[in-house]
Amino acid sequence: MPKVRPLLPLVVFFLVLSAVVFHLTLRAIAQTPSERDAAVQKLLADLEATRSRYANVPRKDGEFLNLLVKATQAKNVLEIGTSNGYSAIWICLGLEETGGKLTTIEINPRRVQEAKANLSKAGLAHRVTFLEGDAHKVVERLPGPFDFIFIDADKGNEMDYFNKLFPKLQPGGVIVLHNAIRFQNQMKAYLDHVSNHPQLNTVILSLTMDDGFAVSYKKRK
Ligand SMILES: C[S@@+](CC[C@H](N)C(=O)[O-])C[C@H]1O[C@@H](n2cnc3c(N)ncnc32)[C@H](O)[C@@H]1O
Repeated sequence: MPKVRPLLPLVVFFLVLSAVVFHLTLRAIAQTPSERDAAVQKLLADLEATRSRYANVPRKDGEFLNLLVKATQAKNVLEIGTSNGYSAIWICLGLEETGGKLTTIEINPRRVQEAKANLSKAGLAHRVTFLEGDAHKVVERLPGPFDFIFIDADKGNEMDYFNKLFPKLQPGGVIVLHNAIRFQNQMKAYLDHVSNHPQLNTVILSLTMDDGFAVSYKKRK
């Protein structure tokens, strides 16, 4: 017993030290929601600085995708054309509210790695499955169903995506095509098709007055 007593202050010291380290570590890991929001907004702003290199959607279009995911309560989202993950971040921020998941396809391996890093930085990687390869082939092996499909890849080849994915789009779901104004000539076959399709309601809209989306809703009946 007399030998234990001198050790007591040391034991107490280490206990207190451990508690302080534990507390500080927890504080560093568990950011408050506003700290996390600020970090994601900073990341988005950083990505906007390299937007033209990665052909990302403009910020307003990212905000629109985010709103549309929430408004449609989308749960199973497919994106064709991940690039470095900018639009995926906006989609996943919407999925944080709906509890849904994103599958995103990109043909360029370096971009897949960059997208993975960016979604991790945003704290959203748990929402995403990244698929690498030619989306025309990859979509054939995806079972679906999807309730939200966002196409933003090789312009002019949308009809192939449409033909392969329309059967996998749930009634009540939406299919959203980017660059429907700037690339309207290359996309004419698709735009005519979705505008006249008896199972779809389609609108073409712009938030930037420069380019925009074709948004098609698959009727329930
Ligand atoms: C316009 S960028 C996508 C931008 C992204 N949606 C964003 O806003 O952050 C188009 C991307 O599609 C990819 N891509 C082009 N053809 C593809 C294909 N056949 N399969 C998969 N990805 C493809 C390109 O490598 C490019 O990264």
